[in-house]
Amino acid sequence: MSSTSTTRQYDFVVVSNRLPVDRVVDPDGSERWATSPGGLVAALEPVMREADGAWVGWGGQPDLGLEPFETGGIHIVPVDLSEDDIENFYEGFSNDTLWPLYHDVISPPSFHRVWWDSYVEVNQRFADAAAAVTAVGGTVWVHDYQLQLVPRMLRESRPDLSIGYFCHIPFPPYGIFSQLPWRLQVVEGLLGADVIGFQRVADAGNFSRAVRRLTGLATKSPVIEVTAPYQPTRRVIVKAFPISIDAANFEALARTASVQARAREIREGLGNPRTIMLGVDRLDYTKGIAHRLKAFGELLSDGSLDVEDVTLVQVASPSRERVAAYMALRDEIELTVGRINGDLSTMSHQAISYHHHGYPREEMAALYVAADVLLVTALRDGMNLVAKEYVASRFTEDGVLVLSEFAGASDELKKAVRINPHDIDGLKAAILQAIDMPHREQQARMRSLRKRVAEFDVARWSREFLETLAEATRSRNGAAHSHDMDDVLDWTIDRRKAD
Ligand code: G6P
Repeated sequence: MSSTSTTRQYDFVVVSNRLPVDRVVDPDGSERWATSPGGLVAALEPVMREADGAWVGWGGQPDLGLEPFETGGIHIVPVDLSEDDIENFYEGFSNDTLWPLYHDVISPPSFHRVWWDSYVEVNQRFADAAAAVTAVGGTVWVHDYQLQLVPRMLRESRPDLSIGYFCHIPFPPYGIFSQLPWRLQVVEGLLGADVIGFQRVADAGNFSRAVRRLTGLATKSPVIEVTAPYQPTRRVIVKAFPISIDAANFEALARTASVQARAREIREGLGNPRTIMLGVDRLDYTKGIAHRLKAFGELLSDGSLDVEDVTLVQVASPSRERVAAYMALRDEIELTVGRINGDLSTMSHQAISYHHHGYPREEMAALYVAADVLLVTALRDGMNLVAKEYVASRFTEDGVLVLSEFAGASDELKKAVRINPHDIDGLKAAILQAIDMPHREQQARMRSLRKRVAEFDVARWSREFLETLAEATRSRNGAAHSHDMDDVLDWTIDRRKAD
């Protein structure tokens, strides 16, 4: 650790729009922070602890005015967003411009100059906060589409830093990306990093193409040569690093007696149908929920499936509820669910068990254990960690994963039943194939899926990214980055050997 008289500084700083902690109000009215259950925190926690790390991000509510604090062993550096910032930067530019644009324009993106101005301003706020708390020669890892300008802003104020960026969502083909009025600024913003990571090889390719078209810089995978007039001139590494989950942890949870008991209870509660199919998504138009419902509804109404035998459990967690496209989606999905249930359910069996909630990890694990088939029908998805969570939970080596080829996970999970969610007949056939799949085939497929998910877990993902970043920085300026970070990486590599 190093420190100045006013601000404490850290050798390793993670920057993401959301902090890895949630504000929880206890029954007695007192408030506390609980670590979010996500894999990113789990993956970075050991690195954080070892490297003396901090996390810069927003607390999820307007104008919290919080000072830095520590919770669950993580140093938290809050960035404030006002009501206006939430409207323009978060709901506007991040989630009504970039999100639909980067997801194949499934919903039309809106382009507003005031939203862009807010995006620049808020990105600068995050960059300033990170610059203030990072020690000389330290490492900063910036996450996701909300913060694409931060790498360059940081490079300008802190050329001593080692800067990594990871994009959790797809990066679109140039024909789509080029619609963005501020496309050059975004590309230049990202090029401030030493390593730019994407989920899929195709995303890295799309980004490199955008760089060539917009800047004229030379790219030869995985390197982009940043040359004059850009300063400082240097090499940037652009590569795919598919993110994952803490698979061992998820499996351990699925094996617990309480999760097993809860899974039985869920099955009984649904009337013990022969097959339970499951969908788990944020309520987002990228997830293909309507396509899934259409296919299932048709299978019931054309007699291919009997509602007494099969139930679809759909968990749709509330998301971005003030953005118009999300409000319209909720209406559409809930109307469809109501119609299918109204037309096809019986007194004893409901066609669709629909839940507009987020659930804790334990309940999710129980649902995965209870479900014979998981349906992932995303129209476009950076990765889809739900698919990997299902696989990790199936220690009994049965169960079938139906997986859209438009989810990043399909690059890795090759033994899933792959579908094109736009092809409703194909989707219906895949659902029937999954329901009727012989046990031996389920096992053969699930074993292969589980091997992949167990080997390529989230700890490996973060290690590979940080090793690439340390290496890129070493070759940039002869080991001028933090030696402490080298120690941390040596430590994580040693740990891996010991595993
Ligand atoms: C996706 C994005 C994340 C985002 C999450 C939840 O996974 O890649 O950056 O945090 O959705 O969305 P929200 O808008 O609630 O942060």
